[in-house]
Amino acid sequence: MARITAGVSCSHVPAIGVAMDTGITDQPYWKPCFDGFVKSREWMKENTPDVIFLVYNDHCTAFDASCIPTFALGCAAEFQPADEGWGPRPVPVVKNHQKLASHIAQSLILDEFDMTIMNEMDVDHGLTVPLSLMFGEHGVDDEWPCQVIPLAVNVVQYPAPTGNRCYNLGKAVARAVESYDEDLNVMVFGTGGMSHQLQYKRAGLINPEWDKRFLDMLVNDPVAASQIPHVEYLREAGSEGVEMVMWHVMRGALKETAKEVHRHYHVPASNTAVGHLILENV
Ligand code: DHB
Ligand code: FE
Repeated sequence: MARITAGVSCSHVPAIGVAMDTGITDQPYWKPCFDGFVKSREWMKENTPDVIFLVYNDHCTAFDASCIPTFALGCAAEFQPADEGWGPRPVPVVKNHQKLASHIAQSLILDEFDMTIMNEMDVDHGLTVPLSLMFGEHGVDDEWPCQVIPLAVNVVQYPAPTGNRCYNLGKAVARAVESYDEDLNVMVFGTGGMSHQLQYKRAGLINPEWDKRFLDMLVNDPVAASQIPHVEYLREAGSEGVEMVMWHVMRGALKETAKEVHRHYHVPASNTAVGHLILENV
């Protein structure tokens, strides 16, 4: 049977992708940010999964105001890196495990989570930056070391789903994966965050105390973390801090006893606090 072996959370700051693509990760501004992922990349090499179920958000790239799915599951054979205005990132095309994706679609929908099924979709920095952070440099002619099933969550246009809904969706994802009859090592990524606000009077807001409490709570008291209301993300973590609801999908897919094996927190990267966790599903 397929099994979920670990969960990973991390930020997706687009400037991290630019720093990697232009070879400036050793500069003093970036080095402390990337140093926190040295161990993560070693751990990924030792524990490379067959498939990553990657929960991320699209930033008006595949979707715009004409169509706003709350949960959109990538079922296409592959996903091209999107052109976000400066040309596509020079990273590999993302290859799906289509049979598992179809099984998850069926399992989730019959489990009463109504997914939008995406048979065509480009993927933006929300998905490619976490892969770059965890796998290191990979060029357009390379392949990512594993297959990826994308789940795009709407956190751009109000109303985003609640943390509770995301946590319960994670549990349904675990039921789906664990009922798939092939011996696969699957990891779940929950991405986005941490505190940041890109707009209006509080642009530049970062709240390290709140972020660090969130990391502790997500690891040790995930049910309580899933109950944090939207207004608290907005007030404490800024208007884009609500991206963190996606971390609850990852946490819900793991056992409550999951063990933290790595943590990294760094400020700043562009306008954003970078947060990162690796949890083994024991
Ligand atoms: C930044 C952060 C984001 O999450 C994003 O989607 C775009 C920009 C930033 O900090 O620059
Ligand atoms: Fe974002």
